[in-house]
Amino acid sequence: MPRPIHVALIGQKFMGRAHSNAWNQVGHFFDGPRPVHLHTVAARDQSELIPFAKRWGWDSCSDDWRSLASIDEVELVDVGTPNHLHAEQALTMLAAGKHVACEKPLAGTLADARQMRDAARKAKGSKTFVWFNYRRCPAVALAHQLVRAGKIGSVLHVRAQYLQDWGGPSTPMSWRFKKSLAGSGAHGDLNAHIVDMARFITGDEIHEVHGAVARTFIKERAQEGKRGKARSDVDDCVLFVASFKGGATASFEATRLACGNQNRNTIEINGTKGSVRFDFEDMNVLHFIGPSDDPRIDGWQRIMCTSAGNHPYADAWWPDAHVIGYEHCFTNMAADIVKVLSRRKPLVPLPDFEDAYQTQRVLEAALVSARERTAIRLSEVK
Ligand SMILES: NC(=O)c1ccc[n+]([C@@H]2O[C@H](COP(=O)([O-])OP(=O)(O)OC[C@H]3O[C@@H](n4cnc5c(N)ncnc54)[C@H](O)[C@@H]3O)[C@@H](O)[C@H]2O)c1
Repeated sequence: MPRPIHVALIGQKFMGRAHSNAWNQVGHFFDGPRPVHLHTVAARDQSELIPFAKRWGWDSCSDDWRSLASIDEVELVDVGTPNHLHAEQALTMLAAGKHVACEKPLAGTLADARQMRDAARKAKGSKTFVWFNYRRCPAVALAHQLVRAGKIGSVLHVRAQYLQDWGGPSTPMSWRFKKSLAGSGAHGDLNAHIVDMARFITGDEIHEVHGAVARTFIKERAQEGKRGKARSDVDDCVLFVASFKGGATASFEATRLACGNQNRNTIEINGTKGSVRFDFEDMNVLHFIGPSDDPRIDGWQRIMCTSAGNHPYADAWWPDAHVIGYEHCFTNMAADIVKVLSRRKPLVPLPDFEDAYQTQRVLEAALVSARERTAIRLSEVK
């Protein structure tokens, strides 16, 4: 029997549930090289921890996340807390010799992200991972494989939008609207994902942000359980245009105020021979257009990415067109993490702290560009 991977998790709300589900499901659906054991969950909401641990199958729980560092058995610590905590928690766990899987964005600030990248470089025995889960939608992983295999030729344009609509004036204050806790608003939350997807699918790096605009429309928000309003000091939207090293142009837009768009994470990439297009709200599908030898049937193909043997991760799930959802991407990622911790290759590349730091530099360049109303070369953002 291979040695189990004992996992500990920090955070028990949205991502706490998504990650707990993934660690629970991975052994059911994937023939992983090592089993996973849900060891301990830590968070600060003590009254909710015991029922949470019981419901999701964690053996124990703690309201002191630091205690995880001294549990020898725990090999991997999974960080699912607000952005300002990522650095301290990841650094503590790396110093204790743990592998760390951290939620995105890597950190709230570039300085924190740099410290995490540096610590990961030094911690030779530890692996790091960042939960850019959209890489593991089968359609996005297929787009990566097709573009890297040259099926659309050289990349010319990247057009990415991540539109949500939950951040209207009636949405109360939370850590997501405070710069000291979140770092930024829609930008770090949503642009982080599409910048990562663009880098992942094209395999290219952004080298300049030409211009950006950031807006905070809702400047004050009601506070739950308190009188009076609190100031929201993060962006509600950030749009920017950029160039890749290979010459492609790119546009990115993230907002939480696009009424009617609940989780519209879309990317279209146009190359010299064809294009790919993905929309998370129809996440099992990849649209592809490439060269054809009969102009009468030229046009977009709608590929249902659920065919075992043909599409990434499809072997693990259901028969053709028995579609998967948001949570499956986390399970796919857990399966790849298990592979890496067993010295095997992931199905498609996994982002580590080094990789996520490059995304964080792009995010920083866009913020500086918006603030200074000027173009920013990535070489200026260290
Ligand atoms: N990959 C994705 O699709 C995705 C989606 C949503 C959020 N996220 C990221 O996940 C992270 C968490 O977001 P969320 O939506 O789960 O937030 P959340 O508010 O739902 O949960 C935060 C959790 O952190 C815990 N926490 C807060 N302060 C703590 C402290 N000092 N010590 C210990 N625990 C503490 C809380 O108890 C809570 O369980 C963020 O970095 C966010 O950007 C990623």
